[in-house]
Amino acid sequence: MNRIQVEPFGRGFDCADDETVLEGALRHGVLLRYGCKHGGCGTCTVRLVDGDVEEHGSSFALSPGDRAADLILACASIPLEPCVIDVEPSGLTEEEYLSGDRSRPHDTRVGAVRPLTGDIAAVSLDVVGDPIAFTAGQFVNVEIPGTELVRTFSLANAPSDGRRIDLIVKLYPDGAFSRFLREGAVAGLPVRVLGPYGRLRIHLSHRDVLMIAGGSGLAPLLSMLRDLADRDFDRPVTLFFGARTAGDLYLTDEIRRVGSRLRAFEFRPVLSESWPADWAGETGLVTDALSRWRPRLAHDVYLCGPPPMIDAAVPLLTAAGVRPRNVYFDAFTPATPMTRTAALDPIIDVMTSRAE
Ligand SMILES: Cc1cc2nc3c(=O)[nH]c(=O)nc-3n(C[C@H](O)[C@H](O)[C@H](O)COP(=O)(O)OP(=O)(O)OC[C@H]3O[C@@H](n4cnc5c(N)ncnc54)[C@H](O)[C@@H]3O)c2cc1C
Ligand code: FES
Repeated sequence: MNRIQVEPFGRGFDCADDETVLEGALRHGVLLRYGCKHGGCGTCTVRLVDGDVEEHGSSFALSPGDRAADLILACASIPLEPCVIDVEPSGLTEEEYLSGDRSRPHDTRVGAVRPLTGDIAAVSLDVVGDPIAFTAGQFVNVEIPGTELVRTFSLANAPSDGRRIDLIVKLYPDGAFSRFLREGAVAGLPVRVLGPYGRLRIHLSHRDVLMIAGGSGLAPLLSMLRDLADRDFDRPVTLFFGARTAGDLYLTDEIRRVGSRLRAFEFRPVLSESWPADWAGETGLVTDALSRWRPRLAHDVYLCGPPPMIDAAVPLLTAAGVRPRNVYFDAFTPATPMTRTAALDPIIDVMTSRAE
């Protein structure tokens, strides 16, 4: 048994010898932020201030730079001795820590599935029972009916609309969820969803907002845009949306409609591969368009999309003057094997420890 001291709250919990830091926290009814629970999403990143841990399972969400900065994944770290962790990298508040895990299973039914482009679909799930409470930017784990598989997708609707779960899903030829959408997702079919999870959220400040989306990465940013519009946000917001061709852009009218509810909104679509003769938007990679846009930046920046886009954009943003602490992103990493049992384990643990 090892004591885990949690800073900056000055609180703590005990971890059993074979437990990860995350499992220990959830078993004691306190929350550390988490998502995939298998080292894939980086949501559970904390700083190891003192003590030592053993890495368990995959932890590919951490870069060498993260490791050098003593960052660890709570879901993949088993304490070897008493440890002190700082939860600041996960953005957790003391209130959230003490309230415990709010994520839970939600019963939904397939509402509609409609193609947005050749390989991206809009999926709408109707929540049965109590609405889902989430913050803009969070994601859910969706159980694929008829299988033991779970897949991660960001919510695209506004938190004010918790009776539905809108997803924007990239379809892969051999993807399990993609196959379900193509072949089995008939209206009314029950689908169980776990969540919400994730640390990506709006940080209100005096800075202007810059959003950068690639592919299906628009989903959480659209949720944030909708939320900012609901809140009558008054700072300028700019959205760069990168796609290969005009046919790969989608929901552009909806983006403009939501943007028109903001005080100052600029939409900058960027096409990288080919564009019509009358194309009035940007061309090249979204990172090229960013460099041309402004030489110096001092924004709060939100990024979502494929890992290579995030990897290219983050150094460019910081070189242009954005403070690393003001860059927030979710990289849409592919799923590694995650079964329903694994996805539910900590929730069962929490329920057990609360019932005792
Ligand atoms: C926090 C988070 C939020 C996410 N939100 C979204 C979202 O809103 N919309 C969305 O479309 N995706 C999102 N993803 C990514 C999504 O979870 C994965 O792409 C998932 O694996 C797709 O499931 P699938 O069953 O269709 O394909 P799988 O069965 O998982 O994979 C099938 C094939 O496609 C390849 N593949 C799958 N995903 C990727 C990828 N991302 N990049 C490259 N190759 C891949 C696999 O290697 C495999 O060959 C998110 C990921 C994370 C971590
Ligand atoms: S990396 Fe730990 S919860 Fe996803």
